[in-house]
Amino acid sequence: VTVLGFVSTWDRAPDWKAALTALEPGLDFRIDPELGDARQIEAALVWKPRPGALATMPNLKVIVSLGAGVDSLRREEMPADVPVVRMIDPQLTRGMVEYVLYAVLRQHRYFPFFEDKQRASAWDQGGPVPDTARTTVGVMGIGVIGGAIARALREVGFAVRGWSRTPHAVEGIEGFHGADGLAPFLAECRHAVCVLPLTPATRGLIDARFLSLLPKGAHLINIGRGGHADEAAILAALDSGRLGHATLDVFHQEPLPAEHRFWRHPGVTLTPHVASLTLARTGAPHVIAAVRAVREGRRPDGLVDWARGY
Ligand code: GLV
Repeated sequence: VTVLGFVSTWDRAPDWKAALTALEPGLDFRIDPELGDARQIEAALVWKPRPGALATMPNLKVIVSLGAGVDSLRREEMPADVPVVRMIDPQLTRGMVEYVLYAVLRQHRYFPFFEDKQRASAWDQGGPVPDTARTTVGVMGIGVIGGAIARALREVGFAVRGWSRTPHAVEGIEGFHGADGLAPFLAECRHAVCVLPLTPATRGLIDARFLSLLPKGAHLINIGRGGHADEAAILAALDSGRLGHATLDVFHQEPLPAEHRFWRHPGVTLTPHVASLTLARTGAPHVIAAVRAVREGRRPDGLVDWARGY
């Protein structure tokens, strides 16, 4: 019998209990802080864990993150020899794909313009017809989620390019990588999508220089982490017209303070970190598979390498 400790200050424990026990009826599902004898716990399912909770589980074999990003896990609190696995959930990926398709198409097809015109009862067909095949969308982060986003954009007909830390080949997508690849990558992006993991190497990537490398009037979409972006630089680029629009789901401080200029800026479309969230029903198989892999001495899918940071 697997004893699993659920340690999240955010996720819905009943949903996870139902989804996991549907797959493994014998599972002993314990919810922090009611962990019983914590020495029995061999798997922990965590998101923003209560400080100190994991330290009470000396026999832990695997930690599974409820989110795709593991930056919230406070590495220093992760028991040193316990593998950490990040979430890979088909619905989480699909949600990110939906969000990006919507954000790109909304700007590409001038919906904000037509919404304004409708409010003025004005029949105005606007500017030139958008040429989709000649519109470049760049995706930064070409892993499980970014790869799916890039393929979906290509399917719609955009010219898609990807940027990643190390070379990553995705069929039909022009690849760029590393610090040297950033400027040539950004030079053609009408829409630039950040879906990178937050690591020391990617923190602060979207700064004034980055924004100056995009074509004038480009659209930035950040669904990675707030820490990827210099928020003052985004506001300055929007104010100067260098950046045409920003679709932002993640922020330095969440919830975003009510006085933040992003809320009211006409060049910003803002959502409260909902681009995609893990769904228990579709994420549960990954949790079970990770526990099994570790128990059988195999490498679990989504194993975190702390040296690279994700
Ligand atoms: C959400 O932000 C996640 O990392 O899954």
